[in-house]
Amino acid sequence: MTSPAVAVDRDPAPAPPPAPARAFGQAAPPLRRSACRVLIGNWTGHSTVPSHGLYPHQWSWNSAFIAIGLRHLSPLRAQRELETLLGAQWGDGRIPHIVFNRAVPLGAYFPSPDFWRSSTAGAAAGAPRALETSGIVQPPVHALAAWLVHRADPEASARRGFLARVHPRLVAWHRYLADRRDLGGGGLAAVVHPWEPGMDNSPCWDGPLARIEPAAADSFRRADLVHGAAADRPTDLDYGRYVRLAAEYRDHGYRDAAAAHPFAVEDPGFNALFAASEHALARITQALGGEPDVHRERAAALTDALVARLWSREAGQFLSRDLRADGAGPVTGRLVRARSAAGLLPLLAPDLPPAVAGALLETVRGAHFGLGTTVRLLPSYDLRGAAFDPHRYWRGPAWFNVNWLLERGLRLHGAGERADALAGEILRAAEDSHFAEYVDPYTGAGRGTRDFSWTAALALDLLARRARQDPAPVPAPRKDS
Ligand code: SER
Repeated sequence: MTSPAVAVDRDPAPAPPPAPARAFGQAAPPLRRSACRVLIGNWTGHSTVPSHGLYPHQWSWNSAFIAIGLRHLSPLRAQRELETLLGAQWGDGRIPHIVFNRAVPLGAYFPSPDFWRSSTAGAAAGAPRALETSGIVQPPVHALAAWLVHRADPEASARRGFLARVHPRLVAWHRYLADRRDLGGGGLAAVVHPWEPGMDNSPCWDGPLARIEPAAADSFRRADLVHGAAADRPTDLDYGRYVRLAAEYRDHGYRDAAAAHPFAVEDPGFNALFAASEHALARITQALGGEPDVHRERAAALTDALVARLWSREAGQFLSRDLRADGAGPVTGRLVRARSAAGLLPLLAPDLPPAVAGALLETVRGAHFGLGTTVRLLPSYDLRGAAFDPHRYWRGPAWFNVNWLLERGLRLHGAGERADALAGEILRAAEDSHFAEYVDPYTGAGRGTRDFSWTAALALDLLARRARQDPAPVPAPRKDS
């Protein structure tokens, strides 16, 4: 593994987990111990793999969620997780979605470093020379994670200057998204590959992807099927299109102004996390003695743009906007009618118009998502959608990070009892499934890989919060009163 570019202190082995101050049901102490075991087992010395088999490198949004749980085991290790990732930041500000570990054989994961060729193909965009990364991004959860990691041990964080070190990198990351990725011109960041919003094979991308000529099936070899059941993973046709899009971006030097971006979508989940992270960046800036208003204003502008461009009153949720579809009216592109759980994540924005927040709360438990009525955990996609599949990756299964985010959103908008119930279901499913990557939303039966790091990390976070009887931190309101 390459050394992180950001200096970090010596990392002592984490202490064995203390008993929680207040037990969460009978199962809490063993669950905490087994979650810690997963995180310790998946630690590589600088960062945490999502899983040793299926994802043997460092992934961007995974690391943010992992750090949020890791802070309860070792705040220092959680800081290091984020600093390793930020050490791979490109000169243009982007945080790559994978940081490759050069100790891992090339064939262990596809697309491997020799596909992305970041250090050469990405040179004009400022890719690091001394390490290899992918060239695309994932959702901007990092400022939120950095703030929560700081809060776990503010004195130790201050002694190490953690916030001061990560602040300029987080500012540059948000600037990249605002300046280079506003492809629709309406104040939202667009994603240019289905892996960027993190929900790779969501049915929302079926329409936009249908216009992409897939790469020839014999031009690449998938490594994921060695570790995951084909029925739980994206199809070969999807992979052909993922490969084509990534190769074209690479062949344009990963320069956003130069690339044609045949896939360009405004995703509500990605932009909701951007808004939540701008609120967190305001807090970080204020803690460093700086002026937070610019970040609060950006968070408010993102929330306004989400409502203006992606809200559908008819659907009762946010939808994605396909910028390459022909649209009528003043706004570029067209809304994609498929309903993804990403369309509920703007509940993370504290300053949503009350009517919008109220409609979202209804949609969460309505016929399309059925949370608390027909399913135990929020599915990734519409239960009534023709493409719904409870087992296939992002086409229906429930994911722990999405459910953890929804839990925060419910709490933020006054649905505390529903948030408590969801937290209980998340913990039960995490334990019963042995920290599955995702689960059947009806039964909680595990799918994908096991001992998945963010599942363990987010369970640890909920357990810690329960043990302290500590409500989820609430982002700053739009204006200080
Ligand atoms: N989620 C994708 C994968 O399976 C890309 O990060 O590798």
